[in-house]
Amino acid sequence: MFDFMTPFYLHYYNSHAWMDTYWMGHPVYKCPLDLFLYQEILFSVKPDVIVECGTNQGGSALYLAHMCDLMNKGRIVTVDIVEVERPKHDRITYLTGDSASVDTLNRVKPFINPGDVVLVILDSDHTEQHVYKELMLYHQLVTVGSYIIVEDTIVGHPVIPELLPGPMEAVGRFLPDHGEFIIDMNKHKFHLTFNPNGYLLRVK
Ligand SMILES: C[S@@+](CC[C@H](N)C(=O)[O-])C[C@H]1O[C@@H](n2cnc3c(N)ncnc32)[C@H](O)[C@@H]1O
Repeated sequence: MFDFMTPFYLHYYNSHAWMDTYWMGHPVYKCPLDLFLYQEILFSVKPDVIVECGTNQGGSALYLAHMCDLMNKGRIVTVDIVEVERPKHDRITYLTGDSASVDTLNRVKPFINPGDVVLVILDSDHTEQHVYKELMLYHQLVTVGSYIIVEDTIVGHPVIPELLPGPMEAVGRFLPDHGEFIIDMNKHKFHLTFNPNGYLLRVK
């Protein structure tokens, strides 16, 4: 994406600092600049429901819940295939299941009321096949003016190319048939993001 950034991307990613990043003491596997973009998005979109695929230890869900606390609005439904001890918060519901299954989608849907503003984050299995399935399943939940955020599109672009094809390729497969979504290029403004081309804004 930004060729001049490639050495820094590689240096930052390979330092594994993203695995040593915490929100209120809970690991959150994100670049802090992306967390700041999340804050900006949440404030402008003000979602009623945030659906997260890929909970891990719950640090990102807790971050989202605290942002919702500040706005006095929003709840989080987060799905992971693995069940572990995670932070408790009134706004967070943890579900266990394969995020790319119709059964899991059907367990998420009841948390959404008619008219709710919905934002979706895909941060589970980062293979192209899995992310594409998630895009096909969850994009229908996203309301106009909100986002489906595809995490870790840096896989292969430029980090860990051996894991290609990854999330970026899934986005490339999805977008041509889904003109209702555009890549929000403004979200590249901090230059360092783990999600280049991954902030998909629903425009119609
Ligand atoms: C990158 S971590 C999520 C990081 C978390 N959102 C954060 O920011 O701290 C990916 C998670 O996806 C989960 N996962 C992998 N395959 C999955 C699947 N098929 N369905 C749901 N979750 C899955 C893993 O168990 C892991 O916890």
